[in-house]
Amino acid sequence: MTKKLYVKSYGCQMNVYDSHRMADTLAPAGFVETATPDDADLIILNTCNIREKAADKVYSELGRIRELKDAAASGGRRVTVAVAGCVAQAEGKEILRRERAVDLVVGPQSYHRLPEMLERAERGRAIETEFPVETKFDHLAAPSRAAIARRGVSAFITVQEGCDKFCTFCVVPYTRGMEVSRPAAKIVAEAERLAQAGVREITLLGQNVNGYHGEGVDGRASTLGRLMHRLAEIPGVARLRYSTSHPCDMDDSLIAAHRDLPALMPQLHLPVQSGSDRILEAMNRRHTRADYLRTVERLRTARPDIAFSSDFIVGFPGETEEDFRDTLRLMSEIGFASAYSFKYSPRPGTPAADMNQLPEAVKNERLQRLQDDIERHQAAFMARCLGLTFDVLFEKPGRHPGQIVGRSPYLQPVPVVGPPSLIGEIAPVTVTEIRVNSLFGTLADASRQTAPSFAEAVGA
Ligand code: SAH
Ligand code: SF4
Ligand code: F3S
Repeated sequence: MTKKLYVKSYGCQMNVYDSHRMADTLAPAGFVETATPDDADLIILNTCNIREKAADKVYSELGRIRELKDAAASGGRRVTVAVAGCVAQAEGKEILRRERAVDLVVGPQSYHRLPEMLERAERGRAIETEFPVETKFDHLAAPSRAAIARRGVSAFITVQEGCDKFCTFCVVPYTRGMEVSRPAAKIVAEAERLAQAGVREITLLGQNVNGYHGEGVDGRASTLGRLMHRLAEIPGVARLRYSTSHPCDMDDSLIAAHRDLPALMPQLHLPVQSGSDRILEAMNRRHTRADYLRTVERLRTARPDIAFSSDFIVGFPGETEEDFRDTLRLMSEIGFASAYSFKYSPRPGTPAADMNQLPEAVKNERLQRLQDDIERHQAAFMARCLGLTFDVLFEKPGRHPGQIVGRSPYLQPVPVVGPPSLIGEIAPVTVTEIRVNSLFGTLADASRQTAPSFAEAVGA
């Protein structure tokens, strides 16, 4: 009998990947994914604990699900509710106490136990938040060809999980555990399977992905750079990306991969958090502002058309106006193509939560100033793209008839008028108009390139 499964992911891309793998693992038990919670037999919320707001969202969503579950029960239909992800890991028992609608709580390292937990949950509530000795990756089911095709031409593979860096603001080391890297052979096999089913772009994921040190095909520890070289050889894999990197782990082999592999896209998310050495130290980031600038330079030398994006935290305990200005200065010195910025949110159990906190008004004011700056830099980067030609990987039909949408090497959405047969293909597009974050353009004649590429424009 088929049963309907609704999975909702919050937080980072790793949760999206995990949600897919949970669905794949439940498929043999008859679960088919549905797009709404209304008719689902099993609802999984895959939660994020990174900031207070993210964690609070879970409880308000569970309130709505409780009503849905009660309504179904009065009609004689049983709905099972599971909470997964980083809130499950951080406050497992608390969730069961606060919300009677929850049947099952499962931490990120126990997803392979879901089928067995569901059976247990029929007799009483089930909870798994240990870090078991077996690794979930060896037990989670692989996706079917149909599931891969449904998810599109761009796919994720988690290659590394957990973090040993212990930045003083961050919950991840506590919710995801210590760093574990998957063996290269397993990752290559997963990538081959995806490519055979039509995937063209693979993003390697990890909380600290460039700290990857899994067993290589030769039995010795590999680096992310070496893994990239191997993945770039897989027929069909046209684009490679990775996220999220730590500035300290940008080793020579990875920089060489940026120089040598055309498939490795010239776009890198490299969170810096702050431009002030004092604050970087209080955050335990293990690098200075000068180290970061040097890393950016090394990457630019290897790949002159590379663009950077970043994450910033404003209002970290002890941040002065001077520290904050250092952050604004770094923003201008690097000229990030885009960035995310967050107000510092104290997380229970992390060292910075016990430091002296800044007033909310100061955080709000700094966030606004930083965001204004980010917008200016983003607009400047977009403006540079006008009139250039980009290779675009087409992903899906557009919003208007006759339109298809793809992404530039810099992840900007690119809608054009074009045939659906181009979906899954890469074709050059000349940008004729910029609207907010999208590049509008026309398909260019590949054999007769008329406009310069971005690489040519920056002199690469
Ligand atoms: N592993 C990545 C970050 C993962 S968390 C890294 O090393 O950078 C994603 C982003 O959330 C972080 O880059 C940081 O900017 C933000 N963040 C993490 N903890 C936070 C907190 N307590 N308050 C506000 N923002 C936070
Ligand atoms: Fe969190 Fe720091 Fe680890 Fe990133 S490197 S996940 S910010 S502890
Ligand atoms: Fe959130 Fe956990 Fe990812 S806290 S950002 S879902 S690792």
